[in-house]
Amino acid sequence: MQIVTAIAIGFLLAGAIKIWIRLRPPSSLPRDLPRIPLYTVILALWWDLSNFEIYNRWIRAPLEKHGAVCVFHTGRWNVLVGHPGLVNELFRNEAVYSKAGNHVRAPSTALGALVGDNIVNSTQTNHRLYKSVMQPGLQRRFDAAPFIEKSRILVDRLIAAQKVESHRGVLVLPWLQKFTLDLVAVCFLGFEMKALNGAPVEQLLTQVKPGVFHPITMKFPAFDRLWWLVPSRRRIFQLVREFDHVLYTTVRQHTRSNPPGLSNMLSHLLEDALQSGQITDKQFRSNIIVTLMAGHDNTEFLFACGMMVLGRNPAIQDRLRTEVMAATGAEPAPDALSRLPYLTSFIYELLRLYPPISQMFNRMASRHASLGDRIPIQPQTSVAWTAYGLQTNPQIWGPTAAEFQPERWGSTVPEIQAAVRRETVRGHYIPFSAYSRKCPAQEFALLQVRVTLFELVRRIRWTVDPQAEIKMSSGTHTFPIGLRVIIDELDALDAVKV
Ligand code: HEM
Repeated sequence: MQIVTAIAIGFLLAGAIKIWIRLRPPSSLPRDLPRIPLYTVILALWWDLSNFEIYNRWIRAPLEKHGAVCVFHTGRWNVLVGHPGLVNELFRNEAVYSKAGNHVRAPSTALGALVGDNIVNSTQTNHRLYKSVMQPGLQRRFDAAPFIEKSRILVDRLIAAQKVESHRGVLVLPWLQKFTLDLVAVCFLGFEMKALNGAPVEQLLTQVKPGVFHPITMKFPAFDRLWWLVPSRRRIFQLVREFDHVLYTTVRQHTRSNPPGLSNMLSHLLEDALQSGQITDKQFRSNIIVTLMAGHDNTEFLFACGMMVLGRNPAIQDRLRTEVMAATGAEPAPDALSRLPYLTSFIYELLRLYPPISQMFNRMASRHASLGDRIPIQPQTSVAWTAYGLQTNPQIWGPTAAEFQPERWGSTVPEIQAAVRRETVRGHYIPFSAYSRKCPAQEFALLQVRVTLFELVRRIRWTVDPQAEIKMSSGTHTFPIGLRVIIDELDALDAVKV
C-alpha cells in the first residue's frame, strides 16, 4: 500500500513539475520585454473577459511603451508585437518569422484536426504550391449578382424573424453566418449551400465551432490531448470528422459533375490539382475547409460589428442611407457603390476599430533574429501581432483613437483610398495583414460589404435592442455575442425620404 501511495505521489509530482516547466516563461524569451503574468489568463477565463477588455486592462500600457510584450497563448509563451515598424518587419520577413498554424503549434486540438496544413497557415514550399493553385480562384473578377441575390434573402429573413420576435430584437449573428456561408459556397466552392434556407451542413458547422474555438483549449491546448476521456470533447472530434466528410463529399460531387467553364472556381482549381497529383487528398480537404472558414467568419463578424455600430448611432445610419439612396436606385451597381465616400470611410473605420482578426498567434522564428535591432528572438520563439492594438493606439491615431469617426479618413474616395494606403504602408492599419501573406480576398470582402450594407440600409432601419446583453468575443476574432437588433421595414417611399 505504501509503495502504491509513493508511486502515486511520484506521478503527481512529476506531472506538477512538467506543468510548471510548461507554464513558466522560458529563458529564451527576450529579457527586456515585459511579461504579462499568467494569472491574467486565468482571471480572463474566470471572469469571461473579452479580447478588448484583456488588451485594455493588462496589455495596452506595456505594449505601447515597449512595442512588444510576452504573453501566454496556445499553451506557450509568445512575443506579441504591436509597434508599426516591428509589425512591418515581421510581415516582410516571412522566411524568418514563418507561419506555424494550429496544426503545428497545437496538433492535438480539435482546431488543429479541423484545419490541417492549408494556404493560411503553411509555409514556404507548401504555401507556394497552394497559392499557385488557389490564387486565380481567390482573385477572379466576381459577378455582383450572387451578392445582391443573397443579401436580399438575408434582409427578407431578418424582416421575417422580427415578425416572429415581436417583443425583442432579432439575434443577428446566426443569420449573418448563414448569409456569409452561402456566398462563400457559391463564389469559391461552386455549390449552393442554402444555409439561409436551413441546410444541414450549416447546422453541423454551428455545432462544431464553439467546441473547436473553446477559450480553454485555445489557451491550454494540452487539455485536448485527453479528449477521449471527456465525453463533450469526444463529441467535438466526432463532429469535426463528420463536418470534414460532408463538406468534402459535397464539394467533390459538384466539381466532378459541373461542366468546364467554371475553370477559375477555386474548388475546380483544387480538384484539378488533386487529379494531377500536385496536392494530396488531405491537402485538398484542408484547403476547402480553410476557404469556407476564412471566407465566411471574417465577413460575418465585420457585418455584426457594423450592425452594432449603426444600431447604436442612428445619425450615422441615416447618413449612410441618404448617401446610397441618392446615388443608386434599387439595383446596386458595384461601381457606383465604390464611388461613395461616406460608405467607403465607414467600412475602413469599422475595420479599424473592429478588425475581425484582432490578433494572430501563428508565426514562429525559424532562426536567430533581432526585431527592430533591439529585441533578440531565439529560434522556435512564437511571434504574434495585434491589429486591435495598433489600430487603437492613441500615439498613432491621436486622442480620438477609440472613437468611431469615419470622417478621419477624408471626404472624397481618392483621399480616403490614399489615407488607407499610407496607413497600411506605415504599419498603422493592418485589418487584412500586409506583404506576402496579406489577405488575397480583400476585394471580394469589400465588394460583399458594400453591396450588403446597401441592401440593409435601403430596406430596413434598426436599433440595438436595449434589453440585449452584448459581450465582445474573447478569442482572436472580434464579434458581438448576443447582439439583437430591433428592425423596422422601410417602404420604398420612406427610404427615399430619409
Ligand atoms: C472582412 C473580411 C476579411 C478580413 C478582415 C480578412 C483578414 C485576413 C488576414 C488578417 C489575413 C492574414 C492572416 C494571417 O496572417 O494568418 C488573411 C489571410 C487570408 N484570407 Fe482573409 N480576410 C477577410 C476575408 C476573406 C475571404 C472572404 C476569404 C476567401 C476565401 C479570405 C481568404 C484568405 C486567405 C486564403 C488568406 C491566406 C493568405 C496567405 O497566407 O497567402 N479572407 N485574411
